[in-house]
Amino acid sequence: MRFRVTPYHGNLLGDHERLAAFREAISSRARGLTYDLGAGSGILSFFASEYADRVIAIERDPKIAACAGENLSGLDNVSVVNEDALHYEFTAADTIICEMLDTALIDEEQVPVLRRALRFLRDDGTVIPQAVFNAAEPVTVNFENIMYDENLSQPSSGPMRVYDRVEFRGDLPEIFRGSLKLQASSPFNAIRIISFTLTAPGIICGPTPMMNPPLIIPLGETGDKGEVEIKLSYRMGGGLDSVEASII
Ligand SMILES: C[S@@+](CC[C@H](N)C(=O)[O-])C[C@H]1O[C@@H](n2cnc3c(N)ncnc32)[C@H](O)[C@@H]1O
Repeated sequence: MRFRVTPYHGNLLGDHERLAAFREAISSRARGLTYDLGAGSGILSFFASEYADRVIAIERDPKIAACAGENLSGLDNVSVVNEDALHYEFTAADTIICEMLDTALIDEEQVPVLRRALRFLRDDGTVIPQAVFNAAEPVTVNFENIMYDENLSQPSSGPMRVYDRVEFRGDLPEIFRGSLKLQASSPFNAIRIISFTLTAPGIICGPTPMMNPPLIIPLGETGDKGEVEIKLSYRMGGGLDSVEASII
């Protein structure tokens, strides 16, 4: 099957590791009335149509929503809606698929959208993905702005530590605020955040070419080697401007 897409959504389709992790989760968990939020080209709705009674694909961008409408037109149990999921009037859902992931859930609306949609999820309903784990490691950089580091080009100065687990089925906090203790083998001046996605129990995928690129956050000063405590906060869905990080 050939999908009509924008260049960005074409790249998402080419990320087979991401698609495999979602496809497996959808095949084992999607059922009943399923919403696909941020449906893009409609690929996850396409997977879900095999297992769910009915799929409603919601996409805000009119250009890709039109492509999804065309891509899924042959499937009787799928409808595409060009609307912002933050304003959509949901009905009781059995499954919610939402792939608006971004590293540590900072730069896309995964959390605000799910906070709204979860009010309509049945008690025994399922969210795909299930959770995200966020980890951090000390690094040394020669720049001062927050930047994605897809290729892990900056050497790490110590081991990675998971500092947060966000369960999409539970109470979703809007803000992360916490302190993390990192062990550094040499002085460092930034942290690199790496997010791992649990699409369903037992199916975990790390950053993939198009999902959750590692994010470097400069700290504005240099931390010594040994154990160093970092204060970190951001608003989930609040964008990179909401990030604050410093050495305690
Ligand atoms: C990372 S892409 C994923 C697309 C598709 N689910 C896939 O797996 O290929 C996220 C999509 O969510 C859409 N989106 C972002 N915020 C949205 C919102 N509030 N309501 C509906 N769609 C939204 C974007 O336009 C984009 O197409």
